[in-house]
Amino acid sequence: MTIHPLLTEITGPELAVAWAPLEVLSGDPHPDEWEDIATAAPARQQEFIAGRLLARKLGEALGLPPAPLRRDEDRSPVWPADRTGSLSHCDALCAAAVGKRAAVQSVGVDVETIGRLEQKLWPTLFTEREADYFKSLPPETVALETTLFFSAKESFYKCQYPITREWVGFQDVEVARTNKALLAVAPTDGAAQAWHAAPIHAVEISASHVATVMLLPA
Ligand SMILES: CC(C)(COP(=O)(O)OP(=O)(O)OC[C@H]1O[C@@H](n2cnc3c(N)ncnc32)[C@H](O)[C@@H]1OP(=O)(O)O)[C@@H](O)C(=O)NCCC(=O)NCCS
Repeated sequence: MTIHPLLTEITGPELAVAWAPLEVLSGDPHPDEWEDIATAAPARQQEFIAGRLLARKLGEALGLPPAPLRRDEDRSPVWPADRTGSLSHCDALCAAAVGKRAAVQSVGVDVETIGRLEQKLWPTLFTEREADYFKSLPPETVALETTLFFSAKESFYKCQYPITREWVGFQDVEVARTNKALLAVAPTDGAAQAWHAAPIHAVEISASHVATVMLLPA
C-alpha cells in the first residue's frame, strides 16, 4: 500500500498523518463500518472505505489496537476512545490523521484538487478581506492560494467540531497567511477561542493537490 506520510515535523509516536491514492486503499472494511455505508453509491462506498483503511493503517503505526470507525448520525466519524482523528477525500486521493487521545485534543485534515474555486464562488466561500488578498496576488498563484484557504476552512471545521459540536459557516471565520507553510484562522465576529489558536499547516502534495492540517494538542 503506497502511503505517503505528511508533516513529519509535527508527527511521531502520538500522531500520524498521511495521504494515499484512492485506488491503493481498497479492501474489506470492518463489518460495523460496512453497515454505515452498505446502501450508498459505489463511489461513495469507495471513498468511505479508503478513509477507514487509511485510518486503520495509521492506528496500527501508532501501536493502537484495531477498532471500527463508525459514522455518527450527523455524519461525523466516531473515533474509538483511545484516539481521535480526521479524514478527507477528493477525486483521486484520501488523507487521514490519527492521534492518541492523551496527546491530541483534536485534529482536522482536508485534501483538495487545486483550481476549482472560480471567482464567482468567492462571495460564498470567502470574506471580503480574503477576496481582496486574492486579487492582490500574481494571477498564477491565485488558484493555489484560494484552494489552500478553502481547505484551511474545512480543516478548521473538522478540528473544531468534536469540541464545539457546532456548525460554522464560510463567512464566520477568516483565514490569513502566516508564512509559506502556515495559515491562521480567526472568527469574523466575537473573541477567538482556544480552538482558533492553532496554526493550520499547508502542504502541496502534488502539482494538482494540496492538503491542510490543523492540530490542537491535548
Ligand atoms: C464535513 C465537511 C467539512 C466535509 O468536507 P468535504 O470537503 O465535503 O469532504 P471531505 O472528504 O474533505 O471530508 C469528509 C469527511 O469529513 C468527516 N466529517 C464529516 N462531518 C464531520 C464533522 N462534522 N466534523 C468532523 N469531521 C467530519 C467524515 O469523516 C467524512 O468522511 P466519511 O464520511 O467518509 O467518514 C463538509 O461537508 C461540511 O459539512 N462543512 C460544513 C461547513 C463548512 O465547511 N464550513 C467551513 C467554514 S469553517
